[in-house]
Amino acid sequence: MATPITTDFQAQIRRGLPADPPPPPPADPAVSRAPRRPLPLDAAGKRLALRNALRYVPAAWHRELAPEFARELAELGRIYMHRLRPAYEMRARPLGEYPARTRQAAAIMHMIQNNLDPAVAQHPYELITYGGNGTVFQNWAQYLLTMRYLSEMSEDQTLVMYSGHPLGLFPSHADAPRVIVTNGMVIPNHSSPDDYTRLAALGVTSYGQMTAGSYMYIGPQGIVHGTAITVMNAGRLYLGCQSEEELRGKVFVTAGLGGMSGAQAKAAVIAGAVCVVAEVNPEAARKRHAQGWVDELYEDLDTVLRRMAEARATRQPVSIAYLGNVVDLWERLVRDGIDVELGSDQTSLHIPFTGGYYPAGLTLAEGNRLQADDPPAFKAAVQASLRRHVTAVNALAGRGMKFWDYGNAFLLEAGRAGADVMAADGTFRYPSYVEDIMGPMCFDYGFGPFRWVCTSADPRDLATTDALAAEVIAELAAGAPPETRQQYLDNLRWIRRAGDNHLVVGSQARILYSDDQGRRRLAAAFNAAIRDGRLSAPVVIGRDHHDVSGTDSPYRETANIRDGSQWCADMAVQNFAGDACRGATWVSLHNGGGVGWGEVINGGFGLVLDGTADADRRLDLMLNWDVNNGIARRAWARNEGAEFAIRAAMARDPLLRVTVGEHADDELIERTASETFHD
Ligand SMILES: NC(=O)c1ccc[n+]([C@@H]2O[C@H](COP(=O)([O-])OP(=O)(O)OC[C@H]3O[C@@H](n4cnc5c(N)ncnc54)[C@H](O)[C@@H]3O)[C@@H](O)[C@H]2O)c1
Repeated sequence: MATPITTDFQAQIRRGLPADPPPPPPADPAVSRAPRRPLPLDAAGKRLALRNALRYVPAAWHRELAPEFARELAELGRIYMHRLRPAYEMRARPLGEYPARTRQAAAIMHMIQNNLDPAVAQHPYELITYGGNGTVFQNWAQYLLTMRYLSEMSEDQTLVMYSGHPLGLFPSHADAPRVIVTNGMVIPNHSSPDDYTRLAALGVTSYGQMTAGSYMYIGPQGIVHGTAITVMNAGRLYLGCQSEEELRGKVFVTAGLGGMSGAQAKAAVIAGAVCVVAEVNPEAARKRHAQGWVDELYEDLDTVLRRMAEARATRQPVSIAYLGNVVDLWERLVRDGIDVELGSDQTSLHIPFTGGYYPAGLTLAEGNRLQADDPPAFKAAVQASLRRHVTAVNALAGRGMKFWDYGNAFLLEAGRAGADVMAADGTFRYPSYVEDIMGPMCFDYGFGPFRWVCTSADPRDLATTDALAAEVIAELAAGAPPETRQQYLDNLRWIRRAGDNHLVVGSQARILYSDDQGRRRLAAAFNAAIRDGRLSAPVVIGRDHHDVSGTDSPYRETANIRDGSQWCADMAVQNFAGDACRGATWVSLHNGGGVGWGEVINGGFGLVLDGTADADRRLDLMLNWDVNNGIARRAWARNEGAEFAIRAAMARDPLLRVTVGEHADDELIERTASETFHD
């Protein structure tokens, strides 16, 4: 029997919009709010935005809500419909508490609520999960309508989501995805950041980031593992440190304790290093400190540097946060002649002028005011700050530090700002982490961020899946070829310690890097455990979009594709379509993830395992495609690891037949080209 609170929650979900305009919901002052956005609409545009917003609510409410929506647009640059934010607690509830006709729909509601949980989301009242503007819905009416549709949907319907807007339920069939999401799809010539700001203000598009708009975000844990792998492999590649023990006492300096960047501190400690991380936003810094994601937090640089020196001397793996601007930290290191071994940056430079990067010399509040009141002046301040930022990084790199771009468009935006980031050959002077580390060491071999969520919301279920995963990975490691054995061993170490590292924020979720074989074996093991009752409820499997096949992005995921096709997006679009027709429960395709609007196309999926034979069929078919699509493309681009991986995959599966390219002799190309083109 459901408790009265649950009954009320269920009734509210089923109702969608309330009968009358509700009173404004209570707002927790501790919740971080999105900055005011620029409003680049002319008089007609503002009227259109208002008309667009009012179509969500009954005409009888218009007189009351029109002025309120207009005020939101004027004051915030967007119409969030704050009045409609539900008063109930926003969190991933156990599956059985959702009013739904299918377990698939209930699982999607679980995932949506997790993405909006104030403990998880960056600006939950503005429906932003991470990355400054990674949006689940554009406004609260969209949320209410979507939850109602999910509560009504049968297995003969598919819910269609246009950039947060629920277009509706359409007749389909049981094998079709229950939800198909697109975010920010625009005509290519209208894909500049300014187009985004204008279209978002009109309420017709949204920035889904990667896992925000696809309901697959699992808090900073989702990225801790990838970041730990990056720091570990950076240690191996740049410093020759083969083990955690050898990374001890090595210092990694970076910025950002936000949605994803919040994982850096914990990941570096897991890898054995000393992490010094600057964060300009007190709310973000204190949230991560309170959650235990960063060990120590100081407001003055003297203490930060003293603690860093102590930790280095005692080889203590520890994370030390500086509440302030990262440029001040870098410049101080230069001035005091303090060397560090590793450096990076995870400010949100994919949205440099709308809240992603705070310029040195201004407080957070001053930065936010300037951004809203005088966008050109704010842009100039950001660019001046980036030039200082790079000058300091260059000085430390000149003294031996290894720096990499963390896929946040740091080099791209610093270059656009006129900072000294170019090498003599016209390429960036620092590698992107995908070019050097993730691409050749992980993605080309099919290893990427597989994740799962226990919809019982019961930590005991998660512990069971951890134990199952450790068994599967240990077996795979024992039989792995030398090319992939290290990957499996890293993952084994990770999963064995995952419970002790207290990584869960929000839903009961786990992540590890895995290849096609591993992902299928893990999913099948979970499905069997649901079937025989070792797990008490369905498990959702999915992945970050930042993966082998999910994302086309020349500045990040496909930065190590060098046949010219890094500017093409066939892989990500094919992946979305291919997942949809192979059994995914929901699929999504986005413009504008981590490196900026117009710079990336990315997609993802969710698949609900419910213990049935049907789930076994789907997981096998879909995961095979979801990984091997990208390996095949990477192999066609002549990437060595991918050529190895696709041949191995074809040897395992007679139905997989992939076009593998021949390598032309460099000398032949050179001789033929110079004789023909005389260049
Ligand atoms: N973690 C990963 O593995 C990963 C991978 C790829 C890309 N990224 C990129 O990293 C970026 C960060 O992602 P996020 O979700 O954490 O974004 P976020 O906006 O939640 O966090 C960024 C943080 O940087 C802080 N910040 C901005 N300017 C600063 C400055 N000058 N000094 C100190 N702090 C400053 C902000 O206050 C914010 O808290 C994004 O561009 C994302 O695409 C991360």
